[in-house]
Amino acid sequence: MHDVPGYRRLVIALAVVVMSAVPAAASALPSMPSSNFPPGTACGCHSDLTTQWQPSMHAQSLTDPIYLTKLAEADEATGGTVTPFCLSCHTPIGVMAGEVTGLDHSGASEVAAEGVTCAFCHHVTGTNDPIGNASQMVSEEDIRVAQLKDPQAPHAAAYSQFHETAEFCGSCHNVNHPSNGVHLEATYTEWKEGPYAAEGIVCQDCHMTPGPGVTKPNPGKAASTGPDREHIYTMTFAGGNVALGDAAKAEERLKAAAELALELPEIVESGDVAIQTTITNVGAGHYLPTGLTEVRQMWLEVTATDEGGKQLLNERRDFGTVMKDEAGDFPAEMWDAAAIHTDDRIPPRESTSNEYSFPMAQGAVTVKAALYYRSCPEELAAKAKVDVPTTTMAEVTKVVYPSAEAMEAATAEEDQSAETPGESGSGLDPIVVLAIAAGVIAVAAVAFAVIKRRSAK
Ligand code: HEC
Ligand code: HEC
Ligand code: HEC
Ligand code: HEC
Repeated sequence: MHDVPGYRRLVIALAVVVMSAVPAAASALPSMPSSNFPPGTACGCHSDLTTQWQPSMHAQSLTDPIYLTKLAEADEATGGTVTPFCLSCHTPIGVMAGEVTGLDHSGASEVAAEGVTCAFCHHVTGTNDPIGNASQMVSEEDIRVAQLKDPQAPHAAAYSQFHETAEFCGSCHNVNHPSNGVHLEATYTEWKEGPYAAEGIVCQDCHMTPGPGVTKPNPGKAASTGPDREHIYTMTFAGGNVALGDAAKAEERLKAAAELALELPEIVESGDVAIQTTITNVGAGHYLPTGLTEVRQMWLEVTATDEGGKQLLNERRDFGTVMKDEAGDFPAEMWDAAAIHTDDRIPPRESTSNEYSFPMAQGAVTVKAALYYRSCPEELAAKAKVDVPTTTMAEVTKVVYPSAEAMEAATAEEDQSAETPGESGSGLDPIVVLAIAAGVIAVAAVAFAVIKRRSAK
């Protein structure tokens, strides 16, 4: 009935695909029932920390529609073979408990559906080598571990030095292709090879503290019933995801990441105007952008516009990684990636410059440079039915004048409008100021009288 040789060839081909896509080292996670892990809702004493974690991408790592869209594509393209690999970081408990093995997530317990959740992270005891691809070691005992040396908890708790290290995060924030080892995400390695690692500034110092950059100490309580502490970490894990994460925190981080400089001559009578832009990665402890950089979008836009609104220059430069497949075709999807084709991102504390020029106009020309970020392209956002906004990370505007007189005239006009209140809209009318002052005095007088009468009683 079967064409035997053809059938055999198919079996061999399938075996090769399966083996190459999912080698034994796809993830080292042990098997464990999900009942070992209490869900986040059971961590009531840490309600502040729970409120911080809830809007994070960690809490959404299994339900995130952008992820689910890519997961479905990966599943289809590889006949399901790569899917367990994806699940290992996006739902580690679901994988350990065998509750989530493919696209069907209906078997996930409450705690497995929470993705990268409290109990998972606080059961981690170390990492296997190499770091990445869910390399963590997980304890079967219900002893919750963190950096506190004197935990005073109603449950078993212990100190873990490992939680204070970047390796803790690196166990998931280094993603290597499961069959060929290509670095699909290398945030941990980028950090390790950069200046922050040398200074002992770890991921937690920027991503588990209230502000962007290192905002330590952050005094508070680790639990509502616990003692006051000099420093506690926040479970915010804010990054660049404005669409699905905590938008305000993500925007704050994106705006703190880069500095943008625009250099140009103030006066150009005729001929070409030469301009230079420089972007410096001042705030990110890794490359800018980092993570899933074949999906993330960061780009510089430089425009020059004359007084009549005509564009003399309109340039765009994208910063990211482009992957290529085995045949050398690009851009390749992460599951097809065999090598990195191009990578022009900005390493930590390093700069990148660009030069442009445009023909000078008769009148003044306004030059604008802006650096933008979007966590994914419009087509992917539309497929996932998510509204993904563009964030302005940095922006500079400058004017080139055709003559010294034109520049003086423009500056004089500016000074004048700044001096005349009302006209510029800034500065308060003196009458308004007087009226407010009179009001304040009247309220104070009444309050004083009331207090006097009360204390007289
Ligand atoms: C991605 C892993 C991760 C997740 C998810 C996570 N934590 Fe943490 N947590 C840590 C790390 C790491 C530290 C210690 C940071 C350090 O010392 O640098 C920590 C510290 C703590 C501490 C010690 C007090 C403090 O704030 O510094 C408590 C308590 C805690 N976490 C509870 C929780 C609770 C409750 C949740 C869920 C709502 C949660 N964690 C989610 C990794 C995680
Ligand atoms: C168990 C795996 C795992 C561990 C451990 C882990 N992460 Fe993550 N992290 C993820 C996954 C998965 C995502 C992406 C979820 C998504 O976007 O769907 C993520 C996303 C993030 C983001 C991006 C949020 C955004 O807005 O784009 C930040 C920041 C982050 N993690 C920081 C950390 C830090 C800091 C640590 C160490 C304290 C850590 N992570 C440990 C798996 C992990
Ligand atoms: C000096 C502060 C600093 C340190 C240290 C740092 N980060 Fe970041 N991180 C940032 C800033 C600022 C951003 C926002 C800009 C960006 O997206 O790169 C960011 C963004 C991210 C993102 C989101 C990237 C994206 O575009 O999706 C992830 C994930 C992340 N960091 C993980 C880590 C991990 C893991 C470590 C440690 C290995 C780490 N960070 C160390 C400051 C830091
Ligand atoms: C070793 C851990 C790990 C594995 C395995 C993994 N991821 Fe992720 N994934 C992450 C981390 C960490 C981030 C966050 C990086 C960032 O913010 O840029 C992430 C982010 C994402 C995002 C971005 C979500 C968003 O909202 O922007 C998508 C999509 C995604 N992963 C899909 C996949 C797919 C598909 C696979 C399997 C082919 C996979 N991941 C395998 C750790 C992993």
